[in-house]
Amino acid sequence: MTAFPHWNRTPDPFRELISADAIAQRTAELGAKITADYQPLIGAADVVVVGVLKGSVVFLADLVRHIALPVVLDFIGISSYGDSTVSSGVVQITQDLSRPVEGRHVIVVEDIVDTGHTVAYLLQNLATRRPASLRLCSLLHKPARSERQVPIDYLGFTIENLFVVGYGLDVSQKYRNLPFIGYVEQP
Ligand code: IMP
Repeated sequence: MTAFPHWNRTPDPFRELISADAIAQRTAELGAKITADYQPLIGAADVVVVGVLKGSVVFLADLVRHIALPVVLDFIGISSYGDSTVSSGVVQITQDLSRPVEGRHVIVVEDIVDTGHTVAYLLQNLATRRPASLRLCSLLHKPARSERQVPIDYLGFTIENLFVVGYGLDVSQKYRNLPFIGYVEQP
């Protein structure tokens, strides 16, 4: 099971897919890579790390502490219509960025790229705002479900076709605070 036995007392028993230690190690690597890539750009224009609410929040909080540069944080809220486990491809911005990104370097941070519809819409939308550059960092990618090709510049883990929860990802808004990434085992 997991290294966190208290979580096994919840109504949904989780199996661990990616441990908290593995996430921490990969997040540090991604932060170091982003630091190296953006170091030469600092000074000329802001680097804005944009978290996609709410799923990216836990990952973003850990990631930015491994980016050794004076980045700016902002957040954007997105909702996909349809049921909770299948993306319909119809996406709406529910909360916009607090400041324009024109002329600034933008790194979008997502929890997972599943069908790719959400991120494809978001990147298209942000590109119209004329940022100096636009890149995507996603903790997870589920290529088996891909319907839109989205270039992921910084990727944590590729996973198989499982519905995962924890470390920001939810099932019916719950379990975002699980410290590892798990999946609900089918009976
Ligand atoms: P996409 O538009 O299909 O790529 O879906 C993206 C969004 O769906 C993600 O930002 C998540 O909020 C949600 N999602 C997709 N797969 C999962 C999963 O396995 N667990 C939890 N949420 C997921």
